[in-house]
Amino acid sequence: MRFGDSMTQFSLGPRLAACASLVRPGAVLLDVGTDHAYLPLYLVSQGICPRAVASDVRKGPLAMASRHIEAAGLSDKIETVCTDGLAGLSDRGGTDVVIAGMGGLLIRDILAAAPFVKNPDVALILQPMKNEDALRAYLLAEGFAVTDERLAAEDGKIYSVLRAVWDGKTRKADALSLLLGAENIEKRAERRELFLLLLRKFETTYRKKTNGMRPDHEEYAEAKAIYDALTALIRETEERI
Ligand SMILES: C[S@@+](CC[C@H](N)C(=O)[O-])C[C@H]1O[C@@H](n2cnc3c(N)ncnc32)[C@H](O)[C@@H]1O
Repeated sequence: MRFGDSMTQFSLGPRLAACASLVRPGAVLLDVGTDHAYLPLYLVSQGICPRAVASDVRKGPLAMASRHIEAAGLSDKIETVCTDGLAGLSDRGGTDVVIAGMGGLLIRDILAAAPFVKNPDVALILQPMKNEDALRAYLLAEGFAVTDERLAAEDGKIYSVLRAVWDGKTRKADALSLLLGAENIEKRAERRELFLLLLRKFETTYRKKTNGMRPDHEEYAEAKAIYDALTALIRETEERI
């Protein structure tokens, strides 16, 4: 997705476009780990967000983000902040927090260090690169409801994007739902091709995991059960959907 004027052309791939699609019109965006700031540039330049904070823990990416923001003439609407995770961002009036392109464990740790996100008015849009199951388990145990799930394919890879909002009710989910996302399983017919990419990604992961383990390893039985469930779901999706 290309945006910007003839002087400042930026593009949003399917992964970031899926994140953008979950941000509410009118939201004040906190984009944590913004890197190039493409997401806030897109959402603010399109008038979807009136203002945004683009933050990163590294000065290099943030300097590049600032240059892009200045070139787009949006310095009055997009603030750049150098900080670790959400530290120091609780007073920015953020309503939609995006954390994309990081591992699920790092996203979990960033959220755990920022109690202000436990607020029903704050939406989290999260795109973990791995450990999706650990991130979903954390969210459910900490009282967040996963309200939306999206899948996006980019450069031959499949990515999960989820939206979560805190309501204080703790929940549990089975291992397969934590891995794949309950909504993706439920809507697998309409998301067939992307869902199959997701299934095959995890089937490979769990095949390697179980092949590399002795059957008496303490994690073998659970990993094998997940692998068997994934292969059954692949067969069902290929043959019957
Ligand atoms: C792979 S890039 C993802 C950029 C963008 N969010 C995206 O999804 O395309 C990860 C970015 O997160 C930043 N980052 C890593 N750990 C961070 C942390 N603890 N707090 C803030 N930013 C962090 C990195 O410096 C890097 O710019």
